[in-house]
Amino acid sequence: PSNLLWSSRFSSGPSEALAALSASVHYDWRLARYDLAGSRAHARALNRAGLLTDEDLDGMLAGLDKLEQDVVSGEFQARVADEDCHTALERGLIERIGPELGGRLRAGRSRNDQIATLPRMYLREHARVIVALISDLQQALTDQAEAHLEVAMPGRTHLQHAQPVLLSHHLLAHVHALGRDVDRMRDWDRRTDSSPYGSGALAGSTLGLDPEAVAAELGFSRSSANSIDGTASRDFMAEFAFVASMVGVNVSRIAEEIILWTTKEFAFATLDDAYATGSSIMPQKKNPDIAELARGKAGRLIGNVSGLLATLKALPLAYNRDLQEDKEPVFDSVDTLEVLLPAFSGMIATLVFHGERMAQLAPQGFSLATDVAEWLVKQGVPFKVAHEVAGASVRYCEERDVELSDLTDEDLAAIDERLTPGVKDVLTVSGSIASRDGRGGTAPVRVREQLAEVRAVIAEQ
Ligand code: ARG
Repeated sequence: PSNLLWSSRFSSGPSEALAALSASVHYDWRLARYDLAGSRAHARALNRAGLLTDEDLDGMLAGLDKLEQDVVSGEFQARVADEDCHTALERGLIERIGPELGGRLRAGRSRNDQIATLPRMYLREHARVIVALISDLQQALTDQAEAHLEVAMPGRTHLQHAQPVLLSHHLLAHVHALGRDVDRMRDWDRRTDSSPYGSGALAGSTLGLDPEAVAAELGFSRSSANSIDGTASRDFMAEFAFVASMVGVNVSRIAEEIILWTTKEFAFATLDDAYATGSSIMPQKKNPDIAELARGKAGRLIGNVSGLLATLKALPLAYNRDLQEDKEPVFDSVDTLEVLLPAFSGMIATLVFHGERMAQLAPQGFSLATDVAEWLVKQGVPFKVAHEVAGASVRYCEERDVELSDLTDEDLAAIDERLTPGVKDVLTVSGSIASRDGRGGTAPVRVREQLAEVRAVIAEQ
């Protein structure tokens, strides 16, 4: 006889084709531990409601413990014919404690409230793992920032030289973005901290079970206020997938820079051998595969959130079987980040920066032109005019193929009489950087403060 949980009103078992389509056990099996925790809490709720004697409760809990051991050891395995993890675990329980007692557990619960609850438990646990991995990446970036605190580099907009900045300031910019991802995970957890267990199939339970007690036992601070919402909503999964994709996108933006910085043309950094790969034909190659995989996996993470939203968009309340499609995308997002982040952090931690090369390029491309304009403003010149005079200096330099800092006093006077020799004070990278000393600016004094702030935040994560 079939061990499916619904076979009695059917005259035949499922066709092979249906069974193959319907099965989710090959991916929902990772929820087994959470399913067993839910079963223990549910057994206690049945006992408190007078539906399971104390003796039966002891037998049930012992059976669940034994089953858990056998799941962990691999002694008990799910089969595709089990359809899903809930069915497989009921079979396992009945095999251990018999159908008389084992058959009592399912009273007052549905796979619909189970499958709305277990992924919350799974994702909340993995959100903590992912937050720790993001913290490691922030730590690696912050350590590099501290080690290169005063190294100047060309700051870019439109990928063109814009104004000199400190490498440390640039690296810390990424740390702040990742910090918001950590915040987002925390905030997501606050909303996800509600257990649908006890919602039944959709309408709640008649058996006098206590969903709040089950919620508390499963680590939630409350239970669903509405059983239909409890069983039908999956915004917690979509939001998780979004936050994961945002992490992926933030990491991908770092990745793109690493890919550029390690080219011959940039030569800003060199990858450690343990975090680079070679070519099967070109013996000289040293490739930034970790960064490229990060960039590629961002696409996959975005696909997971888009696919899930598409699945949800027209579903009427309450449960629909379409919802079985919710798990693979979020599981994939978890797996993707958990494999990507450690490699990425290792790559960052071991990256060797070429500070001299960066500093040498920092003033090139007329990146000090804004400093010329702002120096003129300080001399009382309206900014519109100052912008024009600085622009004329750039044109003058471009025609002669020199940089702003190469201009002599005579050159400056020839461009505009207001460009007195004093302007040369600001035509240095260090002067330019040090002068941007307002809050959030790239001046070393501000970056030092920022570094301390960032360290304190990471330590509290
Ligand atoms: N495996 C299903 C899912 O992942 C849960 C089972 C609910 N099935 C049902 N026929 N009500 O969503």
